Amino acid sequence: MNLFYQKNISQWLLVILWRVSIIITIFQHVYGVSLPNNNETVPAVIVFGDSIVDTGNNNYVTTLVKCNFPPYGRDFAEGNHPTGRFSNGLVPSDIIAEKFGVKKLLPPYLDPNLSPEELLTGVSFASGGAGYDPLTAELVSVMSLSDQLEMFKEYIQKINEAVGKNRSTTIVSKSIYIVCIGSDDIANTYSQSPFRRAQYDIPSYTDLMASEATNFLEELYKLGARRIGVFALPVLGCVPSQRTFGGGKDRRCVDSSNQASMLFNSKLFSQMDELGKKFSDARLVYLDSYNGLLNMIQNPAKYGFEVIDRGCCGTGNIEVSILCNPFSINTCSNSSGYIFWDSYHPTEKAYHVLSSLVLNNKIKDFFP
Ligand SMILES: *[C@@H]1O[C@H](CO)[C@@H](O)[C@H](O)[C@H]1NC(C)=O
Ligand SMILES: *[C@@H]1O[C@H](CO)[C@@H](O)[C@H](O)[C@H]1NC(C)=O
Repeated sequence: MNLFYQKNISQWLLVILWRVSIIITIFQHVYGVSLPNNNETVPAVIVFGDSIVDTGNNNYVTTLVKCNFPPYGRDFAEGNHPTGRFSNGLVPSDIIAEKFGVKKLLPPYLDPNLSPEELLTGVSFASGGAGYDPLTAELVSVMSLSDQLEMFKEYIQKINEAVGKNRSTTIVSKSIYIVCIGSDDIANTYSQSPFRRAQYDIPSYTDLMASEATNFLEELYKLGARRIGVFALPVLGCVPSQRTFGGGKDRRCVDSSNQASMLFNSKLFSQMDELGKKFSDARLVYLDSYNGLLNMIQNPAKYGFEVIDRGCCGTGNIEVSILCNPFSINTCSNSSGYIFWDSYHPTEKAYHVLSSLVLNNKIKDFFP
């Protein structure tokens, strides 16, 4: 490898370190999960969040946080079909939409060719690289949670126009809302940029995140959402890139990142509990992706995995987003034994397993 190339790579890396969105998480499929009550219909699934649940919005945003090129999407549909999903195939948004019996793919809201039918059955507003902390999206020029909320308001207008206020109100109140965000706050903004560490330690930073989360959930409620699932932070310190940059020679899980995730999760949990009391007609469902992913990493064979500490793409230690590209060297030829697709995001298979672990016994909690 020549020097010029090395220098380029390390510049990219620096940019990427605190720029790229990433993440991890959870979910799975199970065809025909039966909803608790046959009278319950779920008209739409609507998703807010980051790269775990972005199904292609960032394709339409001017940012480096992208993945609409190979080898992303290598196993999507007939194969070799990058869509802007940060995985080899489906992401949790799709898997969850199918789980609730709505549809198989959840389109990105910014897709200019969305049909009215697609709008009425739900979209993803998620944007890779976003966080609860508004600064997180700003640092990488992606859509913040408040941008996502503005798009949701516009969405409500559109469905009002399409089906009338009465039906649209029903759609809004009966749909399933999923929120999956926050990893980039800790992995990128807090750990990799200088801006927050000057003012905050982890306890006060996770307070900031939790208060942003609460504000967001309140806004969502005011707009009519009633069935809302919120993902916890995953076991962030065990993600391959975290192991590489903070886990020492043996690339161990980074304890401080895991502690930060757990601390935030406990705050999220109690805030959601409070909100649930205040909004007694809403269902707020805490989804424990932390222990779901940890379980998979500790018992890979149980779920059909062999490789837990690096991604399939490139060396698997650092490549993510634009660093995971057609020129990445040593990309694995078949990711079916891998939990991670790139150094930050799970494979479709891992997302399926995680979805099952995290969501299956919570489905009933979304309904009255
Ligand atoms: C509005 O929808 C409800 C069912 O959700 C229906 O009972 C009612 O008649 C509708 N009202 C109008 C004005 O269409
Ligand atoms: C990957 O390997 C698995 C298990 O060996 C196999 O079932 C699957 O078909 C392979 N996928 C591809 C794309 O070769």
